[in-house]
Amino acid sequence: MTQKLLKVGILTISDRASAGVYEDLSGKAIKDYLQDNMASDWKSEYLLVPDSLSAIKKGIMQLADKHSCQLLLTTGGTGPSSRDVTPEATEAACSRMLPGFGERMRAASLEFVPTAILSRQTAGIRGNALVINLPGKPKAIAECLDAVFAAIPDCIKLIGGPEIKINNDNAKIYH
Ligand code: MTE
Repeated sequence: MTQKLLKVGILTISDRASAGVYEDLSGKAIKDYLQDNMASDWKSEYLLVPDSLSAIKKGIMQLADKHSCQLLLTTGGTGPSSRDVTPEATEAACSRMLPGFGERMRAASLEFVPTAILSRQTAGIRGNALVINLPGKPKAIAECLDAVFAAIPDCIKLIGGPEIKINNDNAKIYH
């Protein structure tokens, strides 16, 4: 039977936040966004890992397989520097990719910053989980999720997840 409750995995990828150099504000921004924009029930699992391909892949697998998260939002590690390996780890953990998410988020983000094209953020499917990469800046979370959030309920349903509802009052969400 399909589970009713949406389980969201929040995976923050940051060498410095995982070493305790600074607080993980982006993971918190994801949780705040869900609190503001989900209309059906959900709960979250949280992991914080350094910018290591194996640690990120393991984190995605743990949240999707062990915790049965049907939506997995990563933040950080999508840029062009040598330590940025989140898209590679996402591809390694997923059986199929959904390139439209990255394309749409980059296009929407160009309205805010010219550096939006530096993000290699992507999305994919692992089992019954939709995995979506977000950039590491706290302000990028809403900028990106607003652009794709309306497509998430359909995608989760199509890959065997629960029926979820989003809050339609937020005019910034692209419908
Ligand atoms: N997208 C949005 N919406 N807002 C931003 O501020 N920052 C960009 C880009 N995408 C940004 C954004 C910058 S400066 C970089 S380097 C890349 O995301 C990659 O960020 P990451 O390596 O932290 O994932």
